[in-house]
Order: sequence, then structure tokens, then C-alpha cells
Amino acid sequence: MKALFVNASPRKNWNTHKMLESAMKGASDSGAECEMIHLYDHSFKGCVSCFACKVKNNKTNGLCAYRDDLRPVLEKALNSDVIVAGSPVYFSYPTGMFRSFIERLLFPIMKYEVNPDGTRPRNIDRTIYSGLIYTMNCPEDLAGKIHYPEYLAPNADAMKLVLGHCETLCAYNTYQFSDYSRYDCSMFSEPVKAKYREEVFPEDLRKAYELGKRLTEMAKS
Ligand SMILES: Cc1cc2nc3c(=O)[nH]c(=O)nc-3n(C[C@H](O)[C@H](O)[C@H](O)COP(=O)(O)O)c2cc1C
Repeated sequence: MKALFVNASPRKNWNTHKMLESAMKGASDSGAECEMIHLYDHSFKGCVSCFACKVKNNKTNGLCAYRDDLRPVLEKALNSDVIVAGSPVYFSYPTGMFRSFIERLLFPIMKYEVNPDGTRPRNIDRTIYSGLIYTMNCPEDLAGKIHYPEYLAPNADAMKLVLGHCETLCAYNTYQFSDYSRYDCSMFSEPVKAKYREEVFPEDLRKAYELGKRLTEMAKS
């Protein structure tokens, strides 16, 4: 039972990474062999549209043929039973690194064909239980009003279509700097942010732990 955790934030030990670590602890407590990957440690592109994975009789078997730093990461992902990817929200969407990873992971698994019963064939014959974790500065009520759920939903839809299962977890109103007094950021109230961090973020971490545990338990059954 293998579980891969993919940090698409440039920062280590910050909100997204901490949520992923908590999910990883949940998976590990359920018996998964876990690994954390930091995408920003790797140099890679998004899908280059080479279509090697769609050529007749190709032998890619769901693994992106393009050779750069991401290929070994994708190999690990394909050999995993659980994948949890986390990203901060940048200008309403996940980071570019997150998108590049998703393109390269999903497109080679997906086939441009339709079964006689209307379902879509895939290059894997099992479910990979996946989760997406987003962290954002925005409070939850505002996120709803400015349509973040609608912007983020297509990522989980694609993961579910191609991998078979996907759940989404969001952490809102995140604490952004270690010392707010050093930055020009009068639009934020540090005490309000600190209170939220102290009172709500532990609950977000608990939900991430439960997500890692739940996905692993589903993969085991
Ligand atoms: C370039 C950039 C763009 C951002 N855009 C948004 C945004 O559109 N909405 C939002 O809620 N937060 C935005 N944020 C804040 C981050 O999403 C938030 O602080 C996140 O929790 C950071 O994750 P990290 O601590 O793992 O780096 C932005 C931050 C940066 C650096």
C-alpha cells in the first residue's frame, strides 16, 4: 500500500505542506508506505502535447513519455494506491506547478476512446484514491462569493474521471507570513489571522489527517 503526497507550494513547512504532512500521518497510521514530493524541487514542464501516449500500439502504459525531472515522480504516482496533491490558491487557481503535474499525470492515463457501453477506457485497471488540498488567504464565505469552488472543481472532476476517486479539502484564511509587521499588508488584520490560525487551522489539519486515513482505508478494502 503506497501513498504519495505532492506539495505544489513553493514553500516548505507552510500551510500546504503542513496540511499534506497531516494527511500523510493519517495514511501512515493506516499502514501506507508514504512519500512526500516537493514539486518546486524539480525542473519540469506541463504536457507538451507530443501525443506519444495516444499513438497506436504505444507502450507508455499510462506513464508520460516526456523525459524531464517529473517522469520519476509520475512513475511513483502510477505505482501508488493513494495520491494527495496540495496547492495554494494563486489568483483564484492552483499554482502552475500543480497544473503541470496534473496534466502530465492524467493525460497519459486517459484514453481518447469510448467503450461500447459509453464508458471511457483508461490505461490503469484500478482506482487510485486521490485527494486535493487547497490553502488560501481568502475566508470561506468570501471564497464562495467569488466562485472559488467553481474554479477549483474541474481539477477534482478530472482526477475522479481518470483515477476513479477524488476528494477535495480546503483550508481558508491562512496565515501568510511569520511576522506580519515586516510587510506592507494593511488589508489584513494580524490578530484576526492569528486567532483563526490558532483556533481553526488545527481543525483543518485534523480534517487532512482524516482524509489521508480515509483514502488509505478505501484503497485497502
Ligand atoms: C502569487 C500569490 C497569489 C495569491 N493569490 C491568492 C488568491 O487569489 N486567493 C487567495 O485566497 N489567496 C491567494 N494567495 C495566498 C495563498 O494562497 C495562501 O497564503 C496560501 O495558504 C499559501 O500557501 P503556503 O503557505 O503553502 O505557501 C496568493 C499568494 C501568492 C504568493
